Amino acid sequence: MRDEPLRSRYTLPAFDPGFRAGLLELFRWRRDVRHFQRTPLPSGTLQRLLEIACLAPSVGLSQPWRFVIVEDEARRASIRACFEACNSQALRDQQPGKARLYARLKLAGLAEAPVQVAVFTDRETLQGHGLGRRTMPEMIEYSGVIAIHTLWLAARAEGIGVGWVSILDPSRIAAILDTPPKWKLIGYLCIGYPEEECETPELERQGWEQRSSPASTIITR
Ligand SMILES: Cc1cc2nc3c(=O)[nH]c(=O)nc-3n(C[C@H](O)[C@H](O)[C@H](O)COP(=O)(O)O)c2cc1C
Repeated sequence: MRDEPLRSRYTLPAFDPGFRAGLLELFRWRRDVRHFQRTPLPSGTLQRLLEIACLAPSVGLSQPWRFVIVEDEARRASIRACFEACNSQALRDQQPGKARLYARLKLAGLAEAPVQVAVFTDRETLQGHGLGRRTMPEMIEYSGVIAIHTLWLAARAEGIGVGWVSILDPSRIAAILDTPPKWKLIGYLCIGYPEEECETPELERQGWEQRSSPASTIITR
């Protein structure tokens, strides 16, 4: 017997105009957060957010993301030290006109964020049977990125902030967290309730960079 078409087997929920308006607000108010309250998240929240992240698309359905929940205080301290070292080097690399402003930026909430998760991807995963990555193996990492974005939005929808920290030495982070050699660090996430809400990116408010107009990023051929 032939399978029925998928569309008749499932009923799509109604994404009505009210939902779409709310979704647009979610996109607008998703912020990278570096200032966190120390209040812990309610029990089960992190697990739920990670499960939502696993709904993200992935190349060949490989689901290559690997989440490492970092709770150990000594490891957290080592990660903070890694950030401080990388950030000091980044400061030294700044153009003279930007260095003073760079030094004032807060670029991670590692000291306060109650929840911290390192996100890796596994290029060696057999899941997905290599589909879609023969010519572009980096699709594995892109799949990890999109899982983070999914988690980011899901958290924001619950009033929880996420800060993506990339000013880190990936090999050092892998050593601190003792992860398998083939895993690649995608991002280190600070998660918790934000100190403040704002519709404007913090880097824009601090005068570091301006958002460009969408039109300037689109071409037609
Ligand atoms: C791949 C990636 C890496 C990032 N790394 C850092 C970081 O190390 N430190 C930081 O403060 N923000 C980091 N950010 C956040 C960006 O600075 C932020 O997304 C951007 O300024 C726009 O602000 P918004 O996310 O609030 O819209 C990162 C964002 C992405 C997508």
